[in-house]
Amino acid sequence: MRSTRFGGLTVEVYRDSRELINAAAGSLFSQLRSKKESVIGLATGSTFLPFYAKVVADYRKEGVSFMDAVTFNLDEYYPIANEDSNSYHSYMTANFFSRIDIKKANVHVPDGSAANPELEVREYEEAILRAGGIDLQFLGIGRNGHIGFNEPGTSFESRTHVTNLTDSTLAANRPLFSDSGSQMPVKAITMGIATILSARRLVLIATGETKSDALHSALKGPVTEEVPASVLRKHGNATFMVDEDAIGGMF
Ligand code: F6R
Repeated sequence: MRSTRFGGLTVEVYRDSRELINAAAGSLFSQLRSKKESVIGLATGSTFLPFYAKVVADYRKEGVSFMDAVTFNLDEYYPIANEDSNSYHSYMTANFFSRIDIKKANVHVPDGSAANPELEVREYEEAILRAGGIDLQFLGIGRNGHIGFNEPGTSFESRTHVTNLTDSTLAANRPLFSDSGSQMPVKAITMGIATILSARRLVLIATGETKSDALHSALKGPVTEEVPASVLRKHGNATFMVDEDAIGGMF
């Protein structure tokens, strides 16, 4: 691994995605070792599938438990039934929550079936505050530079809100959306950019060359709402963990 400072953030470049995933899982284990009641922010998508598999496989031998941990997921499609196989509720249950020793009451994913989404987003923010804020937030990055489902143009001041997904995000996520009879929603509930920036520590992971344009803009372009991930350079305690394919010879 080689590491570089980029503005206010650290970029760690791993030889391949396996090394990167080991390191990202390691950052979660050390967080839990230093504070067993940590509040962890979680992401979904294809990048995180091997991450969850690694954490599930290793957490016991790493001597950590999720018994006292609290989690908040970044986002959920809207509208979608929690039990829809394409929901992020289902993704998280299948890949993570049902396979670790976390308490159901400590798990939070925005409710894609909320009848009153405006109330849901307010309550989600309040729940994060009540939990004491997020200690360690994991993030992926969209091909258009989105974080959570904060698409280009989202205000840096935004808190949890309902958003419209862009055509590029819909196209990127469609392969993961199996044909269960449900239409792919065109909206989502997402933590806002200001919500994400309130986390005490941020770890963004990106693998594969489809992410190199977004990483390039986020790291080398202006800090602008047109590239949501660029704001992470202002956080002060953010790390990008990327593989060689994703960084594409940028440095
Ligand atoms: C998902 C999320 C998104 C994804 C991003 C990358 O919870 O917050 O920002 O991290 O769309 O998705 P993949 O990993 O599928 O390329």
